[in-house]
Amino acid sequence: MEDNLPVNVREYQELAKKALPKMAYDYINGGAEDEHTLRENIAAYTRIILRPRVLVDVSKIDMSTTLLGYTMRSPIIVAPTGGHKLAHPEGEKATARAAASCNAIMVLSFSSSCKIEDVASSCNAIRFYQLYVYKNRNVSATLVRRAESCGFKALLLTVDTPMLEKGIFYPASISNRIYTAIEIGNLAPQTTQFEIRSIGDLNSGPFGTTQTNGSQLERFARATLDPSLSWKDIEWLKSITSMPIFLKGIVTAEDARRAVEAGVAGVIVSNHGARQLDYAPATIAALEEVVRAVAGAVPVLVDGGIRRGTDVFKALALGARAVMVGRPVFFGLAARGEAGARHVIEMLNGELEVAMALCGCRSVGEITRSHVMTEGDRI
Ligand code: FNR
Repeated sequence: MEDNLPVNVREYQELAKKALPKMAYDYINGGAEDEHTLRENIAAYTRIILRPRVLVDVSKIDMSTTLLGYTMRSPIIVAPTGGHKLAHPEGEKATARAAASCNAIMVLSFSSSCKIEDVASSCNAIRFYQLYVYKNRNVSATLVRRAESCGFKALLLTVDTPMLEKGIFYPASISNRIYTAIEIGNLAPQTTQFEIRSIGDLNSGPFGTTQTNGSQLERFARATLDPSLSWKDIEWLKSITSMPIFLKGIVTAEDARRAVEAGVAGVIVSNHGARQLDYAPATIAALEEVVRAVAGAVPVLVDGGIRRGTDVFKALALGARAVMVGRPVFFGLAARGEAGARHVIEMLNGELEVAMALCGCRSVGEITRSHVMTEGDRI
């Protein structure tokens, strides 16, 4: 191991900031509008206090858990984030290899900058696929079928994005380049001859021209994303795939109950990394409400703001089966490629292991509500 490797996610973030062009870093790091929810996603974790139990034999810690019958080495999953070639020329292929080497599930984004088939063949691991539904249902259905035939095991339908929040993609010149990077993988086959090889490519090529009247990504999203998507479409989705379906982007008990009624395989408490609706609740603050509403019917996952193993521990204590991490892995990829992404996952695993030991939990099943104190508990 090199001597001066980053020792936590924050240091990876610093390295990524130095390594990336400003526009790419801002796109990855940014949140919607005033970024209130972005700050809260992290701050809400800091207000949850751990209640350690002592004098437990913690010489063996087992972090493994199961999801859909698959055994995972730890409850940490790589969240779907678009455009990994913004961070590294190998893009999602590198991230997939990193996740596989940690025995972690990766969720491939609909806006992947690498082809589904290339990611699938780059390593042998359990993968899930994230879906946006387009007005032209055939586009979405085709991608679902491609993912299924490549061996993806579950579908995450993102439900918090009927339209795109605009702020992150401003100004237009930036968003056009990001558009080029994220849509080229699977969605614009006619443009694949211009496949992005490096971040430098983003400044040239067919989409690299600066536009001043609105952004390409914004217009593309408005033309494609289907804002009419509703609960009844879950039936349609079930009819085109046999993959189990998770809904990603649930933050209320009301929607959690509907999701269970709709027969989904799981619910993901997410606010899209605070990139869509500003003033949506911090996800860790919404988790318990959703867990209570779901009442054990299906697994509940959570993402947003997880930067430490103790955050993973807190999410599990509040009822999450597993967590997903987005930006940290992206930062690892930007800083040190596949090795960086792997190191970020391993660091979080290591931190979780220590948190479990210091709280007297030998397995994830032993992490309970009594191991945390929330603000609500203190009132
Ligand atoms: C995302 N996210 C996301 N979600 C999704 O369903 N489809 C997508 O294509 C993307 N793309 C994307 C790009 C970038 C750069 C980021 C940062 C996020 C949201 C992602 O799945 C997840 O919900 C958050 O990233 C979790 O928050 P943290 O871990 O980044 O704080």
